[in-house]
Amino acid sequence: MSDIRISGIDKSYGQTQVLRQVSLSIEAGEFVAVLGPSGCGKTTLLRCLAGFEKLNGGRIEIGGGTVSAPGRHLAPEHRGIGVVFQNYALWPHMSVAQNVAYGLKIAGIPRTERNSRVSRVLDLVELGPLAHRRPADLSGGQRQRVALARCLAMESRVVLLDEPLANLDYTCAARWKRSSPPSTPARAPPCSTSPTTSPRRWPSPIAWR
Ligand SMILES: Nc1ncnc2c1ncn2[C@@H]1O[C@H](COP(=O)(O)OP(=O)(O)OP(=O)(O)O)[C@@H](O)[C@H]1O
Ligand SMILES: [Mg+2]
Repeated sequence: MSDIRISGIDKSYGQTQVLRQVSLSIEAGEFVAVLGPSGCGKTTLLRCLAGFEKLNGGRIEIGGGTVSAPGRHLAPEHRGIGVVFQNYALWPHMSVAQNVAYGLKIAGIPRTERNSRVSRVLDLVELGPLAHRRPADLSGGQRQRVALARCLAMESRVVLLDEPLANLDYTCAARWKRSSPPSTPARAPPCSTSPTTSPRRWPSPIAWR
């Protein structure tokens, strides 16, 4: 059985139909990349999966449970999905460590466990020494790594990465891929997007298909 089953979904913004009868099944533990030119709907697909958009038609099931369907829309915070947004969406007034810890605090993770997870994921993305910096004082790739760390710290059952490696060099991206499995639960099926129009057209090192 698929862990994620997207069946014939439609999504429009006003008169513009962005997703038309999109279907995709992702098995537990799979790394899948969604490719397509700019504006084709990759981010929209991830937003529908994460629950930030309501569908106009079709169904999304995760782990056998329906999260989006006609008359049903489970709120994002109840889907168990971690998201790294295309623009990172970091809190500008918080340090790197506070950005990573914030979601854990809201989720009620005790301080000791919280601190241990923050330090583990910051080591993973090699940002330990910059834990006290604000996002404004980081490079684009470093900001992206904060967003990745924040997402991984939540240990969600599904991880969605919207162009997660766009600002990372190939070596850094490949290293992250190699080291990411231990930090994500075995059942987690990460799903990412990449534009085929990008000048960086090397195959995504994080995707299996
Ligand atoms: N809130 C919105 N209201 C109206 N149109 C929108 C909205 N969000 C996205 N769109 C439109 O939907 C289409 C798909 O956008 P989307 O962001 O999903 O593309 P994308 O494939 O992620 O592109 P990129 O590779 O540039 O990130 C685009 O034409 C975009 O202008
Ligand atoms: Mg996009």
